[in-house]
Amino acid sequence: MTIENEKALITREAPPRRTKPPQRRRRPTDYLFTGARAQLFKEAIEDYPDARRDDLALMRKYLDPQPGEHVLGFGEGSGYFCRAIAEAVGPTGKYIITEPSPELFCNVPQEVLDLPHVFTEITAVEDIEFPEASFDKAWACGAFHHCPNQTEAISRIFRALKPGGTMVLFDVFQGTPLARHFDASVARYCVTGHEAKFMSEEFAHTLCFLAGFDESKVRIEEVPHRFCFDSEWDMGTFIYKMHAMIRPPGTPEEQIARTLTSLKEHLAVERQGETCVLHFDQKALIATK
Ligand SMILES: C[S@@+](CC[C@H](N)C(=O)[O-])C[C@H]1O[C@@H](n2cnc3c(N)ncnc32)[C@H](O)[C@@H]1O
Repeated sequence: MTIENEKALITREAPPRRTKPPQRRRRPTDYLFTGARAQLFKEAIEDYPDARRDDLALMRKYLDPQPGEHVLGFGEGSGYFCRAIAEAVGPTGKYIITEPSPELFCNVPQEVLDLPHVFTEITAVEDIEFPEASFDKAWACGAFHHCPNQTEAISRIFRALKPGGTMVLFDVFQGTPLARHFDASVARYCVTGHEAKFMSEEFAHTLCFLAGFDESKVRIEEVPHRFCFDSEWDMGTFIYKMHAMIRPPGTPEEQIARTLTSLKEHLAVERQGETCVLHFDQKALIATK
C-alpha cells in the first residue's frame, strides 16, 4: 500500500456513529420464579412450615439482626425470613425487602408488609440503587446463584452498606453435594430448569475484592442447613414442590418418588429419632465493609 493510500485510510471520515439499541430493562417475567415454579414453592413452605425451622436459627446466628439496624434483604420473595427480621430490627430499625418476582413476593405476610419500618421493592439485586451507606446489613439465602451479574451485584451491595456494615450471603457453592443435587436433578426436572451460577470460594473472594471489601474482613463458613420431616415421603414432597420437579411426564406420586430417589443419591438423609433429616448444607459468605 502506498503512503498516499495509507493516509487516505487514516484520514477517511469515521462512519456515522450508530445509535445504541435501547437497553431493555429486564422484566420480572424474565426470572425463574413465575407460574408453577412460584406456586409450588409457596405450597412447599405452607404445607411444611416446620421443615426449615433450623434456617431461622442460622439466619439469627449469622445475620444477627438487632433493634434499630437497617437491613437490606434480596431474593426474599418466599417471605420465609421476613417476619423474623422485621421483628428483630423493630420499629426503630428499617428493613427493605427486595425480590425480582412479583408472583413470589405475594408470599411475604401482609402483617409484615404493613409494619411502618418495612419497605419493599421489586428488583433484582444487580439493579438495586439505594443511596450509598444506607444499610448496616445486607442478606440473602439461596438467591445469589440466580443472579446473572454477580460482580455488579456485590458492588452495589458494597456501595449500599455503611462503613462497618456486613453482607451475609447463604448460598450453594461449587463442588458441594448441594451443587450436585441442583445440577444433576433440579436442572433436569424443575419446570423452569435451573441455570445457576454457583460460586467457588475463590470466585467469592474475588467478587468481594473487586467490590472494594478488605479481604481480611471476608470469610466463608460451612452452614449446616437441615430440613426436617416426619417421613421420607414428606421430604420428597417438600423438595418436589420447592423445586417444582414436574418437567417430565408422570403422576405427582411418580414425580415425588423420582425426586426422593435423586435426593438420596446426592444428599445425606438420616433418621434422628422420629425426625427424617435432609442435609442441605450451604455456605455463608460474610464480608464486612
Ligand atoms: C430459592 S429462592 C429463595 C427464596 C428465599 N430467600 C428463601 O430462602 O426462601 C431464590 C430467590 O431468588 C430470587 N432471585 C432470582 N434472581 C434474582 C436476582 N437476580 N436478584 C435477586 N434475587 C433473585 C428468586 O426470585 C427467589 O425469590
